[in-house]
Amino acid sequence: MRAMRNIVILISGRGSNMQAIVHAAQAERWPAKIAAIISNRSDAEGLSFAQEHGIAYAVVANGDYPSRAEFDAALQAEIDRFEPDVVVLAGFMRILTAPFVAHYAGRMLNIHPSLLPKFPGLATHRQALQAGETVHGATVHFVTAELDHGPIVAQAQVPVLPTDTETTLAQRVLEQEHVIYPRAVRWFIEGKLSIEAGQVRIADKATT
Ligand code: GRF
Repeated sequence: MRAMRNIVILISGRGSNMQAIVHAAQAERWPAKIAAIISNRSDAEGLSFAQEHGIAYAVVANGDYPSRAEFDAALQAEIDRFEPDVVVLAGFMRILTAPFVAHYAGRMLNIHPSLLPKFPGLATHRQALQAGETVHGATVHFVTAELDHGPIVAQAQVPVLPTDTETTLAQRVLEQEHVIYPRAVRWFIEGKLSIEAGQVRIADKATT
């Protein structure tokens, strides 16, 4: 087994979670390399960060493929060129096909801006406000075929304030995303995560 684990991060836009993971990996000297950042959009802001930081990056544009299956096959081929130990979805706004998800079973993570199982899908902050929630948050989970439903690795809660708008709430949640996502990826890299009967077990959590 390689001493350095390979991380491939998929983005579609801003890439602030990707940046938080890159910074943590460097600052905490993870035994891991950000092998590549791959976007399905050529205009994703996060790509310039990759370029500036000398990280390999690639674009596999979904618009270039006639079907979801063909896009996923091309994306998988591109990802696998970098021999990933873990694939990290960081604001990657595509629904993935079952064969793609199966190929990365147990080694693909996602972050979702809600306290799953509440509010899967889009517009989670609006959903939380409309539901009158007083607590909201974010979830890191393993990716399974059902959207936003895989085994949960980590969650962070934030209060919902009476004055909140979608924007202020999203910002408060995002700050927590930047805390829990790097931590969860680090646990994976350190071999601390296992899935038992559909639940995530974290070994030695207290020591990190
Ligand atoms: C985050 O809120 C993430 O939870 C969601 O999409 C957003 C991506 O933000 N899946 P960024 O691209 O990481 O800045």
